[in-house]
Amino acid sequence: YQLHIKSFFDSNNDGIGDFAGLISKLDYIAELGVNTLWLLPFYPSPRRDDGYDIAEYKAVHPDYGSMADARRFIAEAHKRGLRVITELVINHTSDQHPWFQRARHAKRGSKAREFYVWSDDDQKYDGTRIIFLDTEKSNWTWDPVAGQYFWHRFYSHQPDLNFDNPQVLKAVIGVMRFWLDLGVDGLRLDAIPYLIERDGTNNENLAETHDVLKAIRAEIDANYPDRMLLAEANQWPEDTRPYFGEGDGDECHMAFHFPLMPRMYMALAMEDRFPITDILRQTPEIPANCQWAIFLRNHDELTLEMVTDRERDYLWNYYAEDRRARINLGIRRRLAPLLQRDRRRIELLTSLLLSMPGTPTLYYGDELGMGDNIYLGDRDGVRTPMQWSPDRNGGFSRADPQRLVLPPIMDPLYGYQTVNVEAQSHDPHSLLNWTRRMLAVRKQQKAFGRGSLRTLTPSNRRILAYIREYTDADGNTEVILCVANVSRAAQAAELELSQYADKVPVEMLGGSAFPPIGQLPFLLTLPPYAFYWFLLASRDRM
Ligand code: NOJ
Ligand code: CA
Repeated sequence: YQLHIKSFFDSNNDGIGDFAGLISKLDYIAELGVNTLWLLPFYPSPRRDDGYDIAEYKAVHPDYGSMADARRFIAEAHKRGLRVITELVINHTSDQHPWFQRARHAKRGSKAREFYVWSDDDQKYDGTRIIFLDTEKSNWTWDPVAGQYFWHRFYSHQPDLNFDNPQVLKAVIGVMRFWLDLGVDGLRLDAIPYLIERDGTNNENLAETHDVLKAIRAEIDANYPDRMLLAEANQWPEDTRPYFGEGDGDECHMAFHFPLMPRMYMALAMEDRFPITDILRQTPEIPANCQWAIFLRNHDELTLEMVTDRERDYLWNYYAEDRRARINLGIRRRLAPLLQRDRRRIELLTSLLLSMPGTPTLYYGDELGMGDNIYLGDRDGVRTPMQWSPDRNGGFSRADPQRLVLPPIMDPLYGYQTVNVEAQSHDPHSLLNWTRRMLAVRKQQKAFGRGSLRTLTPSNRRILAYIREYTDADGNTEVILCVANVSRAAQAAELELSQYADKVPVEMLGGSAFPPIGQLPFLLTLPPYAFYWFLLASRDRM
């Protein structure tokens, strides 16, 4: 469960969410049924990139509380069986970071200067793409103090650290140890493909970048064997695979599956399973002790970097007709507005998220079907205050509405008076309660998290069907059949399941038994946008 402290709950009514507020809402998160919290950056920062522009690594932004509050939060989360993932943002810092201030004043070529990447001209590394296309013209920005250009893959106030300087890696490992010593369970490695620059390359995924990751992992293995590294590498599957490392995995334990995400939306738009089955086919095997992280939405734009130009145009036209919804190479909308509040489609995509191979990541508020505000700058429109109740400011804060860190959603369809935790908690049919049930069902079966995946090939391409299978150490096997109708019309499909002849498909949400599987193709009909999860049970166990 991914959240921003700033937008979750404000305990002291200054308009900004804080650690104390988050602690008071931990029961809500635990009751949802998730097992891990991923916190967006909460360090001192000018917040020109919502905290990814870090000005001090080993501290808490005073708006959010103190180090003692952070420590208390970790303890309270652990008490509830929740693990904590924080951000290790090491590709860049804020230009306000003392390392940068020192570097720009230091002598050329000195250790201090070389904490960042400098050049006398802005043509070096010109084979490198610009990521924040809507804001930046170049990956170089002139620094009048240093009298040189500095390198940045993101905003021009975010200079990239220079990992060719061994002091930088040492300092970064110091930061990592600081948070691990405090009890953090995992670290999301932000923007990890861009650590090293080399002439004549596109400066992504370089072997030297992987060497840095191997050094970071070695530190974890030596001193923190029960902690986890999660790679944010927005890359194609074959370029993401190396972030798990070699052999048993000597880099990250987990990595986000960026290409799968837009293809779930694509399948829905095209009413065809092909985008999903195609990317699953291209997804390489990963070491047994590694795992994908999968997601539908997060705090950023729905990135369309990992699709072809034609696919991007198609998705933009379908999901972001309003140009204000587009930013960089993506769409700044939340899940519910993307799907026009269609419960069937929200449930369908969520069922895919919860049943495909990998650890599902939920973005705060999406469990309510929260809306967004595309009139806010950058990606702030998907980072608005959590909607707790119909009270002032959605129950997020009792501050003057003008003082809030971001305005809450107030439109008639998605506003906090309509969409909020309190109302949905009392409604047995709410999206919130549906999500809780789904998470509870998912947790009963190990096959979802650990099982293998095999896609079936019914001739009806509007039907996506796959088998998740897991055998535990005692030799007990779980088989789950997932079937989804990605079309707006009712569909029938014939599934070749003869290898499971005699098994009885038991629908997992309602518990009802379907006719046993035989030698002939198994016939299923599905209403529009419907999905089924079946546990294939032995007849004698029925
Ligand atoms: C990746 C983060 O997810 C995004 O929010 C941020 O803008 C970039 N890194 C640059 O810091
Ligand atoms: Ca506050």
